[in-house]
Amino acid sequence: MLGAGVDAGSVGMLREGISWIMVTTVPGLEDIVLMEARERLDVLEADLRFCNVSGRVSLKIPESHVNRVFAFRSIEHIIRLIKVFDVERDKSGLSQIYSGVYGCDFPLGSTFRVTCERVGEHDFTSIDVQRVAGQAIVDKYGRKVDLKNPETIVRVDVAYNKCIVGIQMTRTSLRIRYPRAFQHHSALNPVIAYAMLRIADVKPGDRVLDAFCGGGTIVIEAAQICREIEPIGVDISPKSIEGAWRNAEAAGVKDKVRFIVGDSRRLERALPAGWMVDKVISNLPFGIRSGRLEIIPKMYAEFLSSLKRFLHDNSRVCLLTVHRELLESLGANLGYEVLESRQIMHGGLRSWIILLKPA
Ligand SMILES: C[S@@+](CC[C@H](N)C(=O)[O-])C[C@H]1O[C@@H](n2cnc3c(N)ncnc32)[C@H](O)[C@@H]1O
Repeated sequence: MLGAGVDAGSVGMLREGISWIMVTTVPGLEDIVLMEARERLDVLEADLRFCNVSGRVSLKIPESHVNRVFAFRSIEHIIRLIKVFDVERDKSGLSQIYSGVYGCDFPLGSTFRVTCERVGEHDFTSIDVQRVAGQAIVDKYGRKVDLKNPETIVRVDVAYNKCIVGIQMTRTSLRIRYPRAFQHHSALNPVIAYAMLRIADVKPGDRVLDAFCGGGTIVIEAAQICREIEPIGVDISPKSIEGAWRNAEAAGVKDKVRFIVGDSRRLERALPAGWMVDKVISNLPFGIRSGRLEIIPKMYAEFLSSLKRFLHDNSRVCLLTVHRELLESLGANLGYEVLESRQIMHGGLRSWIILLKPA
């Protein structure tokens, strides 16, 4: 029963051999998580907005498939769910959380920490939740709290009138694919890079261009997910291109990628004549951080115009921007058709992934 809500309850109600997990992702990319999950394992049941929170997907899967979830590229954290129960939003919610957590059976190590993410209005804070839930575990199991390096991370999230208890299985976010040798000031979350590559339907044999590649996140992600493609990055900043090469080396894909210093408003000067591109995936400059918002319309227009000659009928152009209306209207004026616009949250900003094709 895909897409249906998962009833609040405890894992005790699950059939033997079935696991109930919650994975976190970038709000707006939940369907990409389900697509990836279906490719990698048997999904028995899924809820794409678990407890009405975007960016959280719950999955019921065979216990023997749980380890495969660590290979997902569309998620950040994995939480093995233990129990979901109702809580009041006033102070009395805290004693319900104490009792609910006390009643859970936890597979605990010798030390633990409680982490809470709270969504909605409550008369208590996430620190209050961590305190009472931690106390319940100390009272029941006598384990020691270790905030820095605990053996077990217990997640006690509160979303509106639900308390979600589980064990966090990931220590660090799965968005960290490799140690970045170069940190670009606007580096993209690789989870978003992966989603954009999926939205553009990148396939083996494709030539993939990131025309604003910065530290190379999209190009490196492309090389990592698909070995038989030709990913190339262009950026106007020599420092970024040098950093992108270092990142590609750190990610082990240096021999699979190309980076070129160039101005993507004049791609004909950066790319070989007669060259065709199958997929263009770029995180465009927003002009917000640099405080140069006024240059954005001209830059987007010149980029889209100069790109045209490198595209064929089946090429796809997948762009991330905060300037949705601008990009859509420029696209329409410059001979592109908008196939899809989806809203995501990116670095605290409401942004759009916009998929275009030559009209
Ligand atoms: C949002 S950042 C890209 C960050 C990148 N996705 C990453 O993860 O590191 C935009 C990039 O566009 C580059 N840029 C700005 N104007 C450009 C132009 N005319 N041609 C090519 N690159 C440009 C900037 O140097 C910057 O690195």
